[in-house]
Amino acid sequence: MKLTGRLKTVADKVSIGSRVADIGTDHGYIPIYLTKNEICKFSIATDVRKGPIEKARKNISIYNLEDKIYLRNGSGLRPIKKGEVDCAIIAGMGGCLICDILEDGKHIADTIENFIIQPMQAIESVAEYLYNNEFKIYDNSLVKENNKIYQVMSVCHGQDYIDDEIYFEIGKKLIENKDPLLEEYVELKRREIIKVISKVQNIDSISAQERLKECRYKLKKYEGVLKCL
Ligand SMILES: C[S@@+](CC[C@H](N)C(=O)[O-])C[C@H]1O[C@@H](n2cnc3c(N)ncnc32)[C@H](O)[C@@H]1O
Repeated sequence: MKLTGRLKTVADKVSIGSRVADIGTDHGYIPIYLTKNEICKFSIATDVRKGPIEKARKNISIYNLEDKIYLRNGSGLRPIKKGEVDCAIIAGMGGCLICDILEDGKHIADTIENFIIQPMQAIESVAEYLYNNEFKIYDNSLVKENNKIYQVMSVCHGQDYIDDEIYFEIGKKLIENKDPLLEEYVELKRREIIKVISKVQNIDSISAQERLKECRYKLKKYEGVLKCL
């Protein structure tokens, strides 16, 4: 079983001997990899839709792992019992959905030691949610796949310290760890915001002017980060 870069980066963050839940497993590749490589003690693969559950079941049977990976159909953390796992992976979903899953399953999340979170978009919503709900990003890395760069966060319970909102977008740990993809990541963001600025600056409305101010502020922040690298 060979994982793509994004999934491999997620799987590499799981501590050896963990009891793992892969929420929204789809193909089931992460639990298969973790089990085959004896990284996890056991795993639970969940999905809200029956189609992905059946896809995962097929893949799990190809690797003869039916008795090692438990498949459960259900939303978010609901299929997981309190104290059943140490680590929950929530990867490949939008940021708002990830926040909804954490919020809806708060009572279960409280019993899980750590989370590997990999949003496809709306990273800042996830980081802000984590900060406001006493979750701490203790490690963070970037991975590039199909010309897109993703953040993969390792999260535990605890209060983080954030003194600038820019860190919701560009994780503090990425800067501290001098992530090899950081410059490219921030440069992409800088170019995107310049595009938005050039569109918005020709619109004559109060909301456009406010958006312009916000974008210019962000641009300054990105340039500040780039200067420090
Ligand atoms: C794009 S796939 C990502 C699969 C895999 N985690 C990855 O990173 O490649 C998203 C999966 O999440 C599932 N999903 C969406 N909402 C969910 C929810 N509330 N609870 C569990 N699974 C969900 C979808 O059915 C789909 O299989």
